[in-house]
Amino acid sequence: MAQLRAAQVPAHTLATELLLMHALGRDRAWIYSHPEESLDPATAQEFLALIARRAAGEPVQYLTGKQEFWGLQFEVTPAVLIPRPETEHVMEVALARLGERGIKIRMDTGAPRENLRVADAGTGSGCLAVALAWELPHAEVFATDISAPALEVARRNAARHKVAERIHFLQRDLLTGLENTNTGSRARPHAAPESAHDGSLFDLIVSNPPYIARNEAAQLQREVRDHEPHTALFGGPTGIEMYQRLIDQARDLLRDRGILVLELGHDSAEHVRGIFDAQPAWTKVAITMDLAGIPRVLAAERAR
Ligand SMILES: C[S@@+](CC[C@H](N)C(=O)[O-])C[C@H]1O[C@@H](n2cnc3c(N)ncnc32)[C@H](O)[C@@H]1O
Repeated sequence: MAQLRAAQVPAHTLATELLLMHALGRDRAWIYSHPEESLDPATAQEFLALIARRAAGEPVQYLTGKQEFWGLQFEVTPAVLIPRPETEHVMEVALARLGERGIKIRMDTGAPRENLRVADAGTGSGCLAVALAWELPHAEVFATDISAPALEVARRNAARHKVAERIHFLQRDLLTGLENTNTGSRARPHAAPESAHDGSLFDLIVSNPPYIARNEAAQLQREVRDHEPHTALFGGPTGIEMYQRLIDQARDLLRDRGILVLELGHDSAEHVRGIFDAQPAWTKVAITMDLAGIPRVLAAERAR
């Protein structure tokens, strides 16, 4: 603890506990209820090596290889962004919007609902894709990332949570090519086709895109700037470049009343809202604040 405090590591007590738990393979309760135990030399060496790496700036999650998201344990490596609590608001907003419409049965007829088609652009660890597949047992999910190593981690996370057979991981630029993903699994017993390629349209698209401006790099914590993947952090010179393309692609891929949910950068709400306001294809545009009172999630519905 003293070593981490001296290195000005935030939450140094918690970091020490987590690294000790990891080195011992024990939980916190075991550690505090066994004050008589001492570390064997190999474990002590491993623990002190982890402390040294944390003092040098490596995030705890890359040292332990895990982070919780939406109550599920995710593997993380330096190939993926560490899932953040703010991103859980994307889950809340997406599930709330689907819930308003009756997710499992058709509220109007009570008949079983057809499969949901869901996409996650820039899936990283797969946290959103996996948590959505886990919450929505009737969903087929298409998760993209530009990074092949990130997709490998995401695939392992899907397997860990037993949803791998319902998630297609694709190395793509945002949502490019998703119009050709009709797997024929969408049973539509009660609905008339909305268009010729209706089977490839989506009910829900989510994304937490890279949204930090290049020139903000110097203001980032060293843990983030020096250790998290830059493709996951930086959206371009101003940080808002990804949104226009993402929204244009989503407009073409969502079915009538399909839902788009985007995580927002800390100062991008006005700009992103402006994109929606300029396109008559969208209704029910709403922004949700995070727990710090920052506009964090924008949701909108496609009106065809
Ligand atoms: C901010 S991270 C979000 C990761 C994960 N969805 C989460 O919420 O923790 C953005 C992700 O988008 C990916 N990415 C960056 N540019 C992309 C692009 N043009 N097309 C697809 N994915 C991209 C990055 O590799 C990274 O995994």
